[in-house]
Amino acid sequence: MIEEITLHDLDVDKFIADRVSEIQSIVGDGTAINALSGGVDSSVVTMIGHRALGTRLRNIIVENGIMREGEAEQVVGFFRELGVTVEVADAKEEFFAALKGVIDPEEKREAITQTFYKKVFGRMVKESGAKYLLQGTILTDIDETSAGIKRQHNVFAQIGIDPQEAFGYRIIEPLIQLRKAGVRIVGQALGLSPELFARIPFPGPALAARIIGEVTPERVETVRKATVVLEKILKDVNAFQYMAILHDDRVTGMRNGKRDFGMQIEVRCWDSVDARTAKPTRLAYDVLETIAQEMIEQVSGVVSVTYNIATKPPSTLEAV
Ligand code: XMP
Repeated sequence: MIEEITLHDLDVDKFIADRVSEIQSIVGDGTAINALSGGVDSSVVTMIGHRALGTRLRNIIVENGIMREGEAEQVVGFFRELGVTVEVADAKEEFFAALKGVIDPEEKREAITQTFYKKVFGRMVKESGAKYLLQGTILTDIDETSAGIKRQHNVFAQIGIDPQEAFGYRIIEPLIQLRKAGVRIVGQALGLSPELFARIPFPGPALAARIIGEVTPERVETVRKATVVLEKILKDVNAFQYMAILHDDRVTGMRNGKRDFGMQIEVRCWDSVDARTAKPTRLAYDVLETIAQEMIEQVSGVVSVTYNIATKPPSTLEAV
């Protein structure tokens, strides 16, 4: 059982100092690899790990082909300004090969987990001689995986998987006792810019969590474009998270006076404190209209745009 550090109990300076010395004592004079996605959690781990190990920590962002537009370069840039070097590892083909023909949501998540941890990080750890992987798992990730709701891509020990046996390295999780709000406070104290510590959450399975049905490069491109449109329109609404989802079914529409059997995009925008429960944001109708219009104009092949008004539960935030 992991003991939660609530916001009330969080002593930020002590938390950072404790995690830094913990990492130093575990890794000793060895090296470690840091799995950076550019999300809030892994960005905070990167700063803690950098304080603890400096250049003995290799920060890797995996270009898995399912990230948002320009994401890897953007994250490398953010960290360059903080004096932290981040390497980009290209694994697009491996991810698309693993996702080919996979439709079931849990199988999709499993394919992504295996490609990240067994193939890509497994190979890096072997090649570099590192024995440890740092990652940004938080308490909410564990709750949902242990409850059998959703297999979060980064949870192992708590569901009986020994990473050493399964992948050949040990995993260090400095944020395991925190939830999102606590992580953000720690991030701010570590000097991350608001662009990073206040970023909306983004899941490890990335845009694949927003594609119903098969994840192909073409379908990812559609969701990626829809995400650009949505994030631009909603960036100032102050919601917990928002996302565009590509449905599997097509619907009849019309374009230029002709029948167009087109794609459907579902928009979700959530108010939440810790992602355990959530309510749809009451977006103004003219905002919804702008979303629909721009989505249809800018994402080719889309003829239907819907806004989800279900709550979590029974919905989850992501569609997959
Ligand atoms: P759900 O969809 O379960 O999401 O309501 C709750 C929060 O977790 C994020 N999420 C993930 N984060 N690995 C992650 O690191 C995952 O596999 C994963 N799946 C969902 C989701 O974006 C939301 O913020």
